Amino acid sequence: MQSEYRQRREQLMSKIGNGVAIFRSAPTAVMHNDVEYNYRQDSNFFYLTGFNEANAVAVIAPQHPEHKFVLFVQPKDRDKEIWSGYRVGVEGAKEEFGADAAYPIAELDEQLPQYLEQGDRIYYHMGRDRAFNETIIKHWQKSLSTYHKRGTGPIAIEDPAPITYGMRLIKSATELELIRKAVEISVKAHNLAREITAPGRYEYEIQAEIEHIFQLQGGVPAYPSIVASGYNACILHYVENNCQMQDEELLLIDAGCSYGYYNADITRTFPVGDNFTPEQRAIYDIVLEAQLQAIAQVKPGNTFKQFHDTAVKVITTGLVDLGLLSGEVDKLIEEEKYKAFYMHGTGHWLGLDVHDAGMYRFGEETWQTFQPGQVITVEPGIYITPDIKAAEEQPEIDNMWRGIGIRIEDDVLVTENGNEVLTAGVPKLP
Ligand code: GLY
Ligand code: MN
Ligand code: MN
Repeated sequence: MQSEYRQRREQLMSKIGNGVAIFRSAPTAVMHNDVEYNYRQDSNFFYLTGFNEANAVAVIAPQHPEHKFVLFVQPKDRDKEIWSGYRVGVEGAKEEFGADAAYPIAELDEQLPQYLEQGDRIYYHMGRDRAFNETIIKHWQKSLSTYHKRGTGPIAIEDPAPITYGMRLIKSATELELIRKAVEISVKAHNLAREITAPGRYEYEIQAEIEHIFQLQGGVPAYPSIVASGYNACILHYVENNCQMQDEELLLIDAGCSYGYYNADITRTFPVGDNFTPEQRAIYDIVLEAQLQAIAQVKPGNTFKQFHDTAVKVITTGLVDLGLLSGEVDKLIEEEKYKAFYMHGTGHWLGLDVHDAGMYRFGEETWQTFQPGQVITVEPGIYITPDIKAAEEQPEIDNMWRGIGIRIEDDVLVTENGNEVLTAGVPKLP
């Protein structure tokens, strides 16, 4: 694996020319008092280093004669390690993570200038760690103040996003293996959830069984699991998961496992009891058709826009057929009337982040095209809000439709000739 991280750094170096790239580890986050949330490394930092400790800085300096990859890390400290766990330390950063040079993080201010002054620009993302943003600006200004004496040094700070987005968008074989493992665990969890769902059970019981499977296989939830019965499914990020499920309701489960830092993201919606009501079935069939048609658009050369427009068209047409929207389909789409029912995108890149790095469009006219190695979710939905105010504004919608929320979400790999639905192991036709 170290060789893959090295290759990624080399690829980055080839794109930053004489620049110096600096990546900051993710900050820790307090849960309460002196208790912290489980730590998760910043995805770019992890992608380039595999190093998963906090309070670290990675410097990539292609023009340095020897130190092209430098790590600043927490030094080994027996007392601190007793409380908070093993640290790789300065020597480990070199031996285990391939750093050409490594320093204790406390030496950052002292050591960073020697790397900065040889670059013509700094590649750095102004991130969540505001104090560290200030540190970078401080070093940059200091270097600028003596620029005229050297004639070298960074004259700009540039975000590395266009470079890292491009790199992370196409998954390597190793990355795909981890995504497949995250998917495999998630598929098991969804299939079990379907089996044990029954009227009278609580949403949190289903959540517990899903996450039990994740954890048993060495994974963790990739995001807060959504187990939403009945009206709750109309709240896109419902996470309370505390309602008792009733016969004649649907259950929407949006849950995915994270394994080895890589994520799955699956949604299924099915009846809590044995059967759909006719209204639920009618909406389900539209969402399923939209999803299947959108999946068919996922192939090399097609654009992200074609993909989304396809889902929007099927959904709008279906809503008109059912009388939930009235008017001419193209006009309703142009006026975005469908957004009262379908207010989110049709998919997002998936990988190290659930909403993964990667561009969707390049200005007004140019959209991202699908290319082999990308992984995208396909997740259209229809949500008919039970909200009374909304109901007053939509008097044409009969109450029998209200509170139906349906989403179907798969994870799809773009292949040379089309696509592979990685999450096909969870049935969609109940
Ligand atoms: N579960 C988050 C999403 O579907 O985007
Ligand atoms: Mn999801
Ligand atoms: Mn998703």
